[in-house]
Amino acid sequence: MAENTKEDLFAHHEIRDIFPTNIMVAELNDAPALNAALKENILARREVSEGLNRSNVLGWHSDTKMLKWGGAAAQTLAQAMMKLCGQHTKDLGATSGRVRYRMAVDMWANISPAGASNQYHAHPSCLWSGVYYVDDGGDPDGGPLVLLDPRFPMNKMYGADLVFVDDKGEHQNTKVRLTPTPGRLVIFPSWLMHGVRPHSGSRDRISIAMNLAALPGAAPSLNVGLTS
Ligand SMILES: [Fe+2]
Repeated sequence: MAENTKEDLFAHHEIRDIFPTNIMVAELNDAPALNAALKENILARREVSEGLNRSNVLGWHSDTKMLKWGGAAAQTLAQAMMKLCGQHTKDLGATSGRVRYRMAVDMWANISPAGASNQYHAHPSCLWSGVYYVDDGGDPDGGPLVLLDPRFPMNKMYGADLVFVDDKGEHQNTKVRLTPTPGRLVIFPSWLMHGVRPHSGSRDRISIAMNLAALPGAAPSLNVGLTS
């Protein structure tokens, strides 16, 4: 008796990706000029502020009020973040186009010398979080942002090497790594655990982090420092 093939047994077979975790990856226009302005403001701020200890290991983490001291370039970056997040966030309870939430953005800068990293963490009380790269520090392949599968370690508990594979042979990962690229903005849900592997470049890596919160109220303008 001939062995049944998949085609014999199934009239149809497909893979459906349910409950996806959506992130946004964007490249900003005029990034070299924007980055030059951001870098100047960040380096000046480091001269007068010792910064904060949060998830950062070895690196300098500014205060979270960069929208107050980062100049027009910081405002431009916040507007880009809000535009993308607004485009991809829908208020199912809104009636007649009435705006029920306003966006509030906190922003801070990170300067990471060789060896600096960020421990895994999430951002409570926020909707979207993002990172923008000003300077890759001379190591475009190193120090990636690492996003953890929110189901981890559940998806490793039965057999660590047994993973789902799709029709194209792609298998499920429990981590996604994104390399720093100047001019790139990466946005992800604030509940998603993330960290940064150690930087190994010849220069300091400079990045900017943002948290966006949706607060009750209809004011569509940029709000400063409302989430911390
Ligand atoms: Fe973070």
